[in-house]
This record gives sequence, C-alpha cells and structure tokens, in this order.
Amino acid sequence: MKKILVTGSSGLIGSEACLYFANEGWQIHGIDNNQRAVFFGPKGDTRWNQHRLENKIQGFVHHELDIRDRQGVLDLLKEIKPDAIVHTAAQPSHDLAASIPFCRL
Ligand SMILES: NC(=O)c1ccc[n+]([C@@H]2O[C@H](COP(=O)([O-])OP(=O)(O)OC[C@H]3O[C@@H](n4cnc5c(N)ncnc54)[C@H](O)[C@@H]3O)[C@@H](O)[C@H]2O)c1
Repeated sequence: MKKILVTGSSGLIGSEACLYFANEGWQIHGIDNNQRAVFFGPKGDTRWNQHRLENKIQGFVHHELDIRDRQGVLDLLKEIKPDAIVHTAAQPSHDLAASIPFCRL
C-alpha cells in the first residue's frame, strides 16, 4: 500500500487531501500541531478535524509535530518513508503574515 504524508492534515486543504488519498487506497500519515489555534485563538482550533479524520480514515496516523522542527521532520521521514508528500501546513492569513512575518518555535 502506498503511503502519503500530509502536513497541515487537520486544516482545510490538508484534511481534504487526506480524505481524497484515503479514498484512492493510500495509507495516510498526517502532521499537525494545532498551530492554527495559536494563530487564531480557540476559534481556530482544528482538533475536531483531526478527530474527524481519525474516525473516517482507517489506519490514519496523526503525528503531533511542528514542521519547523527540522530534525523531527527528518526523523519522521526516515521512519515512515512516504511515497508522496502533500505540504499544506501554513499560516493562511495575509494580514497575520504582514504582522508576524517570522514565526519562531
Ligand atoms: N483555503 C483555501 O481556499 C486556500 C486556497 C489557496 C491556497 N491555500 C493555501 O493552502 C495552505 C493551507 O491552507 P488552509 O486553508 O488549509 O489552512 P488551515 O489553517 O486550514 O490549515 C493549515 C494547518 O496547518 C497547521 N499548521 C500550521 N503551522 C504548522 C506547523 N508549524 N506545524 C504543524 N502544523 C502546522 C495548522 O494547525 C492547520 O491545521 C496555505 O498555504 C494557504 O495559503 C488555501
């Protein structure tokens, strides 16, 4: 079975990518650390979407990881050896990007 790693898997685009590829028969690994709640407060919380994927996708594996953690990401890639990666983890607001252009760990 092919494996795909989706970053930002609990977000709007990432979660739909997870569902799409699961339907196509891929095993899904998602990375998300709910950073959206840090950016936007409680209304930005994406845990509900993480739980939705865990319920809807058989064998879905959630990785609680910050993609800015370079070594953590490299270790995970070595461990799961994905056949493909969809990278959607991001801070999606233009206004917020203007006020916090660098987001340190
Ligand atoms: N939503 C749209 O209509 C749309 C359209 C075009 C392009 N995009 C782009 O697609 C990307 C994703 O957009 P979205 O709407 O899915 O955003 P989103 O905020 O819904 O999802 C992003 C996810 O990434 C996670 N995340 C953020 N920083 C992280 C980090 N450091 N480590 C781990 N996880 C992290 C967040 O917790 C969130 O769940 C953005 O670059 C956006 O600009 C979105």
